[in-house]
Amino acid sequence: MIALGCDHGGYNLICAVKKYLDERNIAYKEFGTFSEDSVDYPVYAYKVAKAVTSGECEMGILCCGTGIGISMAANKIKGIRAAVVGNAFGAEMTRRHNHANILCMGGRVTSEEEAVKYTDIFLNTPEEGGRHDKRVAMIEQIENGTFSE
Ligand code: RB5
Repeated sequence: MIALGCDHGGYNLICAVKKYLDERNIAYKEFGTFSEDSVDYPVYAYKVAKAVTSGECEMGILCCGTGIGISMAANKIKGIRAAVVGNAFGAEMTRRHNHANILCMGGRVTSEEEAVKYTDIFLNTPEEGGRHDKRVAMIEQIENGTFSE
């Protein structure tokens, strides 16, 4: 199950992502918003992040105007690794190396076609593990306040 969320600035991209998921029978849960009326992106970041950390959804996709604000808000939730992606290489590497669990994109900077491409890569790229496990664990230590140099 993929958790989907957006604000008004990312509504067009989430619609394109939904079409992609529908065509492939990939299950998703929508957390809004559902129009281009102005809303506050942290609300949707919070809902999607909680759906991922609770285990209700395996991964999430969040879109706002730039992808930045909504990723900042999502990353405040413990256990979330939300990545703003603006190219195919980033979509792949943030899964392989950062074990990202939320893909963030911007409706004012990324086309619908590109967003679908990044979604496809993100959802189909595995975590690489190995040396990256240690680095992701360090991110978690920073989050928990247990990190030491
Ligand atoms: C909304 O106008 C805009 O600020 C929002 O979509 C996003 O780009 C924030 O980072």
